[in-house]
Amino acid sequence: MAMDFKAADKEYIVNVYNRMDAVLDHGKGSVLYDVNGKEYIDLSAGIAVNVFGVCDDVWKDAVMAQLNKLSHISNVFYTEPQVILAKMLCEKTGMKKVFFSNSGAESNECAIKAARKYSHDKYGDGRYTIITLKNSFHGRTMATLTACGQDSLHEDFGPFLDGFVYAEADNFESVKALAEENNVCAVMMELVQGEGGVHPLDPAFVRAVVDYAHEKDILVIIDEVQTGNGRTGALYAYMNYSIHPDIVTTAKAIGGGLPFAATMFADSCQYTLTDHTHGSTFGGNPICAAGAISIIERLDDALMAEVREKGAYIKAELEGCQNVEFVSGMGLMIGVKLKKDLGTVVKECVDKGVLVLTANGLLRLLPPLNIPWDVLKKAVAIVKDVIDAE
Ligand SMILES: Cc1ncc(COP(=O)(O)O)c(C=O)c1O
Repeated sequence: MAMDFKAADKEYIVNVYNRMDAVLDHGKGSVLYDVNGKEYIDLSAGIAVNVFGVCDDVWKDAVMAQLNKLSHISNVFYTEPQVILAKMLCEKTGMKKVFFSNSGAESNECAIKAARKYSHDKYGDGRYTIITLKNSFHGRTMATLTACGQDSLHEDFGPFLDGFVYAEADNFESVKALAEENNVCAVMMELVQGEGGVHPLDPAFVRAVVDYAHEKDILVIIDEVQTGNGRTGALYAYMNYSIHPDIVTTAKAIGGGLPFAATMFADSCQYTLTDHTHGSTFGGNPICAAGAISIIERLDDALMAEVREKGAYIKAELEGCQNVEFVSGMGLMIGVKLKKDLGTVVKECVDKGVLVLTANGLLRLLPPLNIPWDVLKKAVAIVKDVIDAE
């Protein structure tokens, strides 16, 4: 008898995901199929992971070639792919050094540790507080969960780490007041708050925070786990804001579908993490790094222009829907505030063969960056029909 995957999933896997009603089996690029052969257009990209879609050939070839050469050997030894990737990232961003890990939360843990050590090395004990923003999301480990500026995430897991305070997004006075009241070593923000509702920060606010922080030797950590690697129409979203962060964290898309993350350090703190102060068994794994090289080297200006064009197209189309209150976002990171029940719209989109996401009460669309125009247009037409259906 065929296995009932949905029932078995509920029985054997911890129930934290509230999964959508599709058992996905295979796919290519922006089109996926479930176990019954039903076709779906993917406007979710594995939550901002699959920038070139699923099972992308270039990434697959890079991964397979490395898999046949050297799968894993530990960070006690040098391996070529992580060096090539680190050099590529530094050359493309102007950052000076990279630490590799496996997930967004870990990339942020590394940033938090480095910010505290930077301050400790320079100023001694006590200057360890990190300002994050209300509605932010930085991960689910204890430190990154503490960093999240969302009360709903904090309900069940106290006590939390000491040294995190939460400012109002887009309110510089709120950041400044917290910096004056606390002994602050860093400010950490997503430039487009993803899980918090696809909210791009006001450029004037970001500029003011960065200028103030740099004046006070407070490190600026930009969390690019979701916004990074081309998602917003620039290699990293901070480039759209013309700022120079001290630390940039990224994960998701850089791995092309394998677990991979990077924490990048600017001049200011490139020497902060020293021998044995941090580490990771799998961080920089050769297979993941080889795949990541094949992703990063293809995120060029032409693709970034295409991302901005597709994002503008989706925004214009959805703004025309009578049941849409507003469309937010940047590039191909799009939030849609609806005037009707979100759960119903998501379910109907999936039923009609389009995979979509939610973020704090908004419909969230994160298509693969290279989704073909005809496929995108077909999916957007379906989403529009669902949104405006009576
Ligand atoms: C901005 C941001 N930071 C951190 C994370 C955590 O990433 P991971 O789930 O890979 O630990 C996420 C995940 O959605 C995120 O969007």
